[in-house]
Amino acid sequence: MRIAIVALLAAACSSPAPKETPQNPAVKEAPAESYQKSVDDNARKMLDEGRKVFRFETFGSEAFFGGQLRLHEVIAGEKHGGIGKGVTPRDALGLGLRVDFGSIPASLGDVIKAHTLSFDDPENTIALLKHDAVVGVKATFDGDRMTTMGITCAFCHSTTDDNFGKGIGRRLDGWPNRDLDVGKIVSLAPNLKPISELLQVDIDTVKKVLLSWGPGKFDAELNIDGKAFRPDGKPAATLLPAAFGLAGVNLHTYSGWGSVTYWNAYVANNEMYGQGVFFDPRLDDAAKFPVAARAKFGHHRHAGAEDLITSKLAALHFYQLAIPPPSPPKDSYDENAAKRGGEIFASKARCATCHVPPLYVEPGWPMHTAEEIGIDDFQAKRSPDGRYRTTPLRGLFVRAKGGFYHDGRFATLADVVDHYDRHFKLGLMQPEKADLVEFLKSL
Ligand code: HEC
Ligand code: HEC
Repeated sequence: MRIAIVALLAAACSSPAPKETPQNPAVKEAPAESYQKSVDDNARKMLDEGRKVFRFETFGSEAFFGGQLRLHEVIAGEKHGGIGKGVTPRDALGLGLRVDFGSIPASLGDVIKAHTLSFDDPENTIALLKHDAVVGVKATFDGDRMTTMGITCAFCHSTTDDNFGKGIGRRLDGWPNRDLDVGKIVSLAPNLKPISELLQVDIDTVKKVLLSWGPGKFDAELNIDGKAFRPDGKPAATLLPAAFGLAGVNLHTYSGWGSVTYWNAYVANNEMYGQGVFFDPRLDDAAKFPVAARAKFGHHRHAGAEDLITSKLAALHFYQLAIPPPSPPKDSYDENAAKRGGEIFASKARCATCHVPPLYVEPGWPMHTAEEIGIDDFQAKRSPDGRYRTTPLRGLFVRAKGGFYHDGRFATLADVVDHYDRHFKLGLMQPEKADLVEFLKSL
């Protein structure tokens, strides 16, 4: 019986496709086919364009990072039109910056492979920057002089596979760089006045705040509400999240500000200080967002050729949604335990009520109060809805560094499970908890 069905299927598959006859006799050819092709071609084009935008587009953020903060001067050093001795490759890697081996010409690559590149010579940083090989940093040169610099999405949301040494390898788009010390990098800028003026605090305070974040963190709300520390005195910064596995997820950021394309536009205009158009009247709420309301962050309007952002949003959105969550190495978890853990996840531990497989987030409006998940509401209250979004869980293994939950408050997955066990009074036995952790590691 089974053989017969298989044979039947095979016959059905190998028979020639029925010729499509246009229903409307006025339609002579098969336009559906060429239309279909235009969709496929468009998908390919959007993917390629979006990848370029994600990796290399600064959206005009040079005006802020170069023009105002003059950050490029410290990187360039005196010899290349800047100040001081310049930043060595060792300094750069120490700040968590990554080197994209794929962008390096063979000659320089050979030197790195042979371990003969001097990591203490700032000239080599210049060479890497000239080849766009420092992930997320785009420097502009006039001959040998560095004239300005900007940043790209890849700065925070890409890392490398370290195939050619610590911090040197092939690009991994969407993987958060949990070594990157954004605050420390910005604190090196010779001119922090634009930030101190925006926040209406002195330069020393700006530096103190930037240095409080540490590796793998950034505070995307500081420049709209001016809140640098939580009530318990800890830094208000959040972890750099994954930018993969986001297709099918309705709301983004830890506190659900909006869709992927909403947030992309937000970031390009309000975090990278690019030049575009952005509208969000929610930011006019002066009680919640005093700095944004004052600086009119909800009303950026660069018209025509001056708008360097809007035309790139569609392709960027498409590319973002195309990045799949990475799969963990098979030997990084116990398969049998993970299988048992999956059953506990869906039943006794009730995890799947919010983390609905295979998205691991609720289809719909996946927002929860702080009370529901048993934590404080500080970060939630810094967003329009005042809630936390259910985090999609796939690819957890690449973001273990820095901990879990928006601020990394739980150092390990076992700590997360213990928290839920206490908060929801799940009564999980120790072996059940261990199985649940193996399941999370397998996602
Ligand atoms: C300086 C570091 C930095 C840069 C540059 C940056 N991001 Fe982010 N990104 C963050 C942080 C931090 C968050 C979390 C913000 C929050 O929850 O409040 C985030 C959140 C996101 C999210 C939401 C992820 C989720 O789980 O829903 C997406 C999508 C995203 N960023 C895309 C981008 C894109 C596209 C760009 C370039 C236009 C970009 N980011 C530039 C740091 C950065
Ligand atoms: C009521 C909805 C809800 C339930 C039930 C729930 N979660 Fe969550 N989960 C969330 C929310 C919301 C967050 C984001 C918290 C934050 O970032 O502060 C989260 C975050 C997480 C994270 C951290 C992800 C990261 O990258 O930081 C893990 C791991 C996790 N949940 C696992 C579980 C497990 C395991 C269970 C079952 C024991 C569970 N969750 C039950 C809503 C829920």
